[in-house]
Amino acid sequence: MEHHEIFEPYQKLVSIIIDDKECLVPENNSILRCLQYLDMEGVSDAELCWNGDCMDCMVSITDGNSTKQTLACRTEIRPGSILTNISEKICFRSGKTRVKILSDDIETK
Ligand code: FES
Repeated sequence: MEHHEIFEPYQKLVSIIIDDKECLVPENNSILRCLQYLDMEGVSDAELCWNGDCMDCMVSITDGNSTKQTLACRTEIRPGSILTNISEKICFRSGKTRVKILSDDIETK
């Protein structure tokens, strides 16, 4: 993985589920950073504030029995988390372990 400098230090990858797909992402990082790990170019190109202002990075996260909406840039990933309802600005491209900007998906349909 390139761009190690943008991630918080991590020793290992942890397993999470995005729209029924298992993905490995770096521990100790925000959800948004983990999505970037899966799609460096797509998330880097998105117009996101990364600081809680734009509200464009909302995701639903399920930990144990509870599901809540949260800002991906403000929430640290936890092993086993299940992510759904990823913001339209950053959406999971079905069938692939990458995230993709929605506008790119529309262009290819
Ligand atoms: S990236 Fe703007 S609120 Fe999370």
